[in-house]
Amino acid sequence: MFFCFIVVFIFLTDPCASAKTRKVTKLVHKVCAKTSDYTFCVESLYADPHTAEADEYFLANIAFRLAYVNATSTQHHIDKLLKKLGTSRPSHYQRRLQRCRSDYKKGVSAIEMGLNDLNSESFDLLAGYAGVAAHAAGDCQSSFKGTHSPLTSMNNDLKGLCEICVVISKLFTDPNL
Ligand SMILES: *[C@@H]1O[C@H](CO)[C@@H](O)[C@H](O)[C@H]1NC(C)=O
Repeated sequence: MFFCFIVVFIFLTDPCASAKTRKVTKLVHKVCAKTSDYTFCVESLYADPHTAEADEYFLANIAFRLAYVNATSTQHHIDKLLKKLGTSRPSHYQRRLQRCRSDYKKGVSAIEMGLNDLNSESFDLLAGYAGVAAHAAGDCQSSFKGTHSPLTSMNNDLKGLCEICVVISKLFTDPNL
């Protein structure tokens, strides 16, 4: 607290501003308030500079695109980890990574279908696609149950981003939200 005060005093800005004090649009607030981690949601969406001017449709595109970039980057990371292991007799660790590779393949293709549907303005299946991708991240994580997963934070990121996608998708199909 005192530290924040000093830094504010020196720089006349608030470096300790968090998602809770950041000025967010009504739409972003409405969406993020329905997720399990408000701060993660706001910080993730505002990673895209267009979020500040986004309407529902545009925000849905931003969210699915963030999930897509995240999922494909994790996919590449998994490929790299597998490559490092080479082709020797498969270990438990290697099998777990292989399961993650197939999870992420499903997840990425679900997000792609979501982006396609958004493109053609069909909204009925969007939340389902985002749910499939979230489930893929969860399945990958649970394959490491009881052991150290090298993908924990990446799986959590994708799950969190997919949750945002689910909430936004429901805005199109549920008029009560
Ligand atoms: C994945 O999403 C998280 C949460 O928004 C973000 O912090 C991270 O930088 C993203 N990673 C990539 C590669 O986009």
